[in-house]
Amino acid sequence: MELPYLEDVSPGTGSLPPRAWYARSDATSLSLNGSWRFRLSPTADAADDSFASDGYDAGAWDTVAVPGHWVMQGHGAPIYTNMVYPFPVDPPRVPTENPTGDHLRTFDLPDDWPATGGGTLRFDGVESCARVWLNGTELGEFKGSRLPHEFAVGHLLKPSGNVLAVRVHQWSSGSYLEDQDQWWLPGIFRDVTLLHRPEGCALDFFTHASYDHRSGTGTLRVDSDVDGRVTVPELGVDVAAGESVTVAVEPWTAETPRLYDGVLATAGERVPLRIGFRTVAVEDGVIKVNGRRILFRGVNRHEFHPETGRALDRDTMRTDVLLMKQHNINAVRTSHYPPHPAFLDLCDELGLWVIDECDLETHGFTEQGWRDNPVDDDRWTPALLDRAARMVERDKNHASVIIWSLGNECGTGRGLTAMARWIRARDTGRLIHYEGDPSCADTDMYSRMYADHAEVERIGHRADTEGPESRRQLPFILCEYGHAMGNGPGGLSEYQELFDAHERNQGGFIWEWIDHGIKHPEFGYAYGGDFGEELHDGNFVCDGLVFPDRLPSPGLDAYKRVIQPVRFAYDEDAGTVRITNLHDFADLSHLSFEWAYHVDDEAASEAGELAVPPGLGPGESVDLKLPDPPPTSRDAETFLHLTAMVGVKTNWTKLDHGVARAQFAVTPRPAVRPATGERPSQGAEFITLGPGTFDPRTGELRTLNGIPLPGAPRLDIWRAPTDNDNGASWQGGQRNGLVWRELGLHRMQHRLDAVELTDDALTVRTRVAPAARDIGLRTVYRWTSDGSQLRLTVSVTPEGEWTVPLPRLGIRLGLPAAYGYAHWFGGGNGEAYPDTAAASGIGRHFMPVDRMQTPYVRPQENGARADVRWAELRAGFTGEGVRVVGEPAFWFTARRWTTEQIDAAAHRTDLTPGDTVWVHLDHGQHGIGSQSCGPGVLPRYELHAAPAEFAFTFSRREATPEEEPPPVAPPPGRSSL
Ligand code: GAL
Repeated sequence: MELPYLEDVSPGTGSLPPRAWYARSDATSLSLNGSWRFRLSPTADAADDSFASDGYDAGAWDTVAVPGHWVMQGHGAPIYTNMVYPFPVDPPRVPTENPTGDHLRTFDLPDDWPATGGGTLRFDGVESCARVWLNGTELGEFKGSRLPHEFAVGHLLKPSGNVLAVRVHQWSSGSYLEDQDQWWLPGIFRDVTLLHRPEGCALDFFTHASYDHRSGTGTLRVDSDVDGRVTVPELGVDVAAGESVTVAVEPWTAETPRLYDGVLATAGERVPLRIGFRTVAVEDGVIKVNGRRILFRGVNRHEFHPETGRALDRDTMRTDVLLMKQHNINAVRTSHYPPHPAFLDLCDELGLWVIDECDLETHGFTEQGWRDNPVDDDRWTPALLDRAARMVERDKNHASVIIWSLGNECGTGRGLTAMARWIRARDTGRLIHYEGDPSCADTDMYSRMYADHAEVERIGHRADTEGPESRRQLPFILCEYGHAMGNGPGGLSEYQELFDAHERNQGGFIWEWIDHGIKHPEFGYAYGGDFGEELHDGNFVCDGLVFPDRLPSPGLDAYKRVIQPVRFAYDEDAGTVRITNLHDFADLSHLSFEWAYHVDDEAASEAGELAVPPGLGPGESVDLKLPDPPPTSRDAETFLHLTAMVGVKTNWTKLDHGVARAQFAVTPRPAVRPATGERPSQGAEFITLGPGTFDPRTGELRTLNGIPLPGAPRLDIWRAPTDNDNGASWQGGQRNGLVWRELGLHRMQHRLDAVELTDDALTVRTRVAPAARDIGLRTVYRWTSDGSQLRLTVSVTPEGEWTVPLPRLGIRLGLPAAYGYAHWFGGGNGEAYPDTAAASGIGRHFMPVDRMQTPYVRPQENGARADVRWAELRAGFTGEGVRVVGEPAFWFTARRWTTEQIDAAAHRTDLTPGDTVWVHLDHGQHGIGSQSCGPGVLPRYELHAAPAEFAFTFSRREATPEEEPPPVAPPPGRSSL
C-alpha cells in the first residue's frame, strides 16, 4: 500500500538543501509572522486543498497567531505524555483522527522589494508535518518539527495578493521520531520569513575559527558555496572565502565570549559573521577547549512559555540566558531538539557552552523492547540523516555549540551510527554526544543520566568495569542529573565534589530548566491530565529550576551556590581565608571581594574590601589575612561573611551582582538561658504556668500571653510528600512517600497517658502512633517557666521497628491569623532542607508568612527555613507577637494552611488561606534527594526514628513602633540576584 506523504518515512519533498542560518544580511526580507486565517479539521483529509488556490474566500475562518500552536489558542487541547506515544504504535502509520490545521495568509511585497533576484520561503519550525502552497502552486511537504525548511519561491511571487497556504498535520511518521518528554503541541510555532535572494547571493557557508592556545593565534577559514571575500576589520583580515588566515586573537570561551564581527561578501549579498575562535578536543580522556579542561555547570533547556508553549519570543530567550548566567550556569543542553536559532546567537554573545541536540527521540519503543525502533531500520535512515544535516548545517557557525548530540533516548541502532558518521565527516571541529548507547561506539564521551553518587565516583576513578574498555578512556558527563521536580533536587553539593575531585567527571546538566505548566484559568498552571487526556504523565512535566513564569525556585538558588566559581575556605586559627578561582579560563579581575563580621543578628559591624589579586588564574588559590573579629560578649554569635560581586561592566548582569558567597561561624552559639523556677498552678478551669494556660484534662496549651491558640503545640511528623519523596516507579530503593502513607504517618493518633503537675513543671505524657500498626513515638512534653517565658522540652522515644525515615520531627501549633509576619534569626531568606541548603545563610530575615511559601505547581512540602535560632510571629511589621527560641536551632515553617490541605491539593489554586497561621518548629527534616527520577536521599541526610530531645522557649514579643520596617524581602528565589 502506498502511504500518503504524512505517513511515509521520507523527510519530505520539494525543500532546498539545508544551509547556515543567519538572522539578517543586507538582502531584504519580509516576516510573515502575524495573524493567519485558520481552519481545524478532525482528520488529515476532511477538507480538500482548494483553500490553497487563488481566490479562495477564507473570510469565515478563524484566526491564529503565527508563530503559535493552535492548541494553545483555543482549538483542541495539549496532550502530555512522557515516553509513551499517545497513539497506537504501528510505525509509520498514524491515527485517522489527526487534527489538521489549514493556515492561510495573503501578503504583498513591500515597495522596496527588488524586481530582480529570487525568493526563499523559510519555516523555522512546524509541528509535525506541513504541506505548503504559494499562489496555488504546491511547493512540497516536510517533517522535522524543530528544524528549518526552505523553499525556492522567487518564480511564484507577485507584487501583491500572494496567497500562502500551509496544511499542518498533528501526527505524521515524524511523530515517531519526536517522542520527547513534553507536551504535544502542533502548529507553525516558529517564524515564517520570505527572504529576497539577490543575484550572486550567499548560499551555504561554514566558518571555521580555531584557537591555538600555545601561540595565542586563531585560524579563520570561511568556506562558502559562492565565491566571496571575508573581512574582519578588527583583525585586519581580508581574505577570499576558502582561504585560511592566522592572526593573534582573544579566544572565545563561555566565560569570556569574545566575538569578532566580520562580513562574508559575495557578489550579491553581505552576510554578517560573528566569529568566536576556539578549539574543542578530547585529549588524555578529557574534554578540552583551547587546551584546558572544562567543567559543565549546566542545565537542560526545553523551549517553553506557559502561554505560548514552544513559541518563544526573543525577550523570553534572552531572559533564559541572563537568568542562567546570573546563576553561575555555564552550559545548556538543548534538550531534546535544536532550539530557535536566535537562542544560539544569545549563547554566542553572552557565553554558554552548548550541546546542540538533534530533534530525535523514539523512547516509546521501549514499551515493545525496542522492536521496530526507527533508528535501527534502514528505511528510516534518510529521515535521520536529514535531521542531522538540518541541525548541523543550520547551527554550524555558532561558537557556543561545541558538541552535537544525536538525539535522546532512542535505544541503539544503525541509523544513529549513520548520523554520527555523517556529522564527523561534515564537521571535524566538534565532539559527538549520545547517552543511549552504553557502548559509546559513536560518541566522544561517556554520558549518563541520573547515575548516583557512588557510581559517579567509580566512573571518576575510571573504575567502571561494566562497559567496554574503550569507554573508560572517554571523558564523562551527566547529561541529566538532579531531577528538579517539585521541592529539590537534593544532593547537588555531593555531585559537585565528585566533579571537582575527578578530572574525568566534567560536570553535568540539571534536569531541567523550566516547569512546563500551562497557564490555566481554573488550575493556575495545568499539567498532564488537566486537559482530559486519555494517557498522561501528570506533573512529571513540571520539573524545572524555574517555575512556569520563570521565577526561580529555591532549587536554582541552591544550584547557584553549589556551582559558584569561587571557593572560600576559612582558617579560624590562622585568621586567614583561602580563595580559589574555580573558573576554567577567567581570572578574577571582573569580581570585587568583601569581608564582613556580623555580630549576632546585627548588620555588618565591621566590613571591608578583600584585596584578592585580580590576576589570580583559573585553579589558583591565595591565602589572605583577615582583620581580627570584633570582640563579642558571651551571648552573641559572630559570623564571617565573604562575598564576590561583579565589579566591572558586563552584558549579563548589573554591577555588584553577587556571584559567590560564604559564611563561617567565628564564635559558637551561646547557650539559651533556661526558663525555670515558676510553679504551675491548678485553677478552676485552667492550669496556669507563667504566660501559659493549659487545659487540665488534656494538658494542652490553650493561651500564650493571653493569645488564644487555635492549635495547641503537639508532635508532628507528617509532611505533604514531595515529588522526590514519592519517587518514580522505575527508580530503585524504597519510595518513602508511599511507605509513609501506607504506614499511616499522615494520620497519627495522639494518646494521652498522663498530665502531671509538680513543683517546677507541667508534664504531659503521650504516645503518638498510627492505627493498625505497632510502631509509635512515646512523647513527653515538659513545660517550665521563669514567670515571663514558657519553655517546652519535647522528648521522643521510638517504639517498635521503624524501617522508614521520619518525614519530619517537631511540633506544630496554630496562631490566630493576625500573626502573619515572620522575623527570624537563622537560615534564609529562602527555603532549605537538609540536602538543599546551599543557599541558606544565617542572618536576620523578615517576611510576611504569605511570602514564605514556595509555589510548587503541584503543592507539596515546602517553605522550611534552616538553622533558626529564634523566630517571631508578629501582628504587623512592628507589632506584638510570639517569640520562640530553639534549643538547638530548628527548622521553621509557617503557613496559612495545614499540611493535610497541602497533601490534598493538586494545584496551587486548591490552597486558600484559612484563619490560622500554622507554625512548624522542627528538630529534624528528612532530606529531599532526587528520587522522582534519580537517586534518593543520601544516608547522611536521612532522618531516622531515634530518641530525641529538643526545646523551645516562648515569650511575648512587645510591639516596637519605632522600629524601621525592614526592606521587604525579595520573593523566594530572587534573593541571590
Ligand atoms: C529523562 C529524559 C528526559 C525526561 C527526564 C525525566 O530520561 O531524557 O526527557 O523525561 O528523564 O524528567
